[in-house]
Amino acid sequence: MVDSVYRTRSLGVAAEGLPDQYADGRAARVWQLYIGDTRGRTAEYRSWLLALLRQHRCRSVLDVACGTGVDSIMLLEEGFQVTSVDASDKMLKYALKERWERRKEEPFDRWVIEEANWLTLEKDLEKPGDGFDAVICLGNSFAHLPDFKGDQSDHKLALRNIASMVRPGGVLVIDHRNYDHILATGCAPPGKNIYYKSDLTKDITTSVLLVNNKAHMVTLDYTVQVPPTEAGAAPELSTFRLSYYPHRLEAFTALLKCAFQGKCQHSVLGDFQPYIPGQAHVPCYFIHVVKKTA
Ligand SMILES: C[S@@+](CC[C@H](N)C(=O)[O-])C[C@H]1O[C@@H](n2cnc3c(N)ncnc32)[C@H](O)[C@@H]1O
Repeated sequence: MVDSVYRTRSLGVAAEGLPDQYADGRAARVWQLYIGDTRGRTAEYRSWLLALLRQHRCRSVLDVACGTGVDSIMLLEEGFQVTSVDASDKMLKYALKERWERRKEEPFDRWVIEEANWLTLEKDLEKPGDGFDAVICLGNSFAHLPDFKGDQSDHKLALRNIASMVRPGGVLVIDHRNYDHILATGCAPPGKNIYYKSDLTKDITTSVLLVNNKAHMVTLDYTVQVPPTEAGAAPELSTFRLSYYPHRLEAFTALLKCAFQGKCQHSVLGDFQPYIPGQAHVPCYFIHVVKKTA
């Protein structure tokens, strides 16, 4: 039942084992426009992330939801050894294009890009030795994984697989929107969105689906203005729809600790700033930092 509700709410075409919400290419086509200026975006967290990675002596980084490659490219430009995976070939296409265009730069020549699904990650991607020094999953990506079975077993499996890619002593950085606020108010927090802040985004409509009175899915309908490619032509409006599982902060923290079997140190930031529960500023995103301790 839940599956049929999900499918009627998503325009994505089902790929084997996973409904790829990007499969129709609509979101992938305008993703860069939706992000806006990519350097402006990464400037929001670049120095924080670089300091964290350097503090933990990280060299190898796995980006488990690279999409078109915005965060991977930032890390390659900083000299990290990057492996990037994503379940959507429509999104990966843009990362592959960038690698090809910049292949003369050494880090880009060594950039590993694979199609992989978190539910089968251990099969889809060969783990180097003990694992990667760091794994990142940014841009509200994890929330894309639905809960068809209604028991979050897929979330648990995916997080276990992602955690298994982190070497002992390494870190996982993973985020989600502030769904606590979205469920309480029906809308995203006011103020700036650190990841997706293009002036070309004209509208985002939020719908919340309850199943048996439990928040089961948040759907966002996006309208992005595409600039004309020819002089004199009118701009076009492009729409796409994405659905998310609304992870609450406390529950997601518990899922993470379970994925690391308690062998971890965990902290949370709000929009990449220190976060104190109950603080006046309502963050748009929660960012979890998990260090694997054994
Ligand atoms: C919101 S996009 C973010 C991409 C990129 N991190 C960014 O911030 O621009 C989410 C990405 O997660 C990927 N994704 C969703 N479910 C996945 C899964 N089960 N396994 C691997 N990737 C998945 C999608 O294909 C999509 O490219």
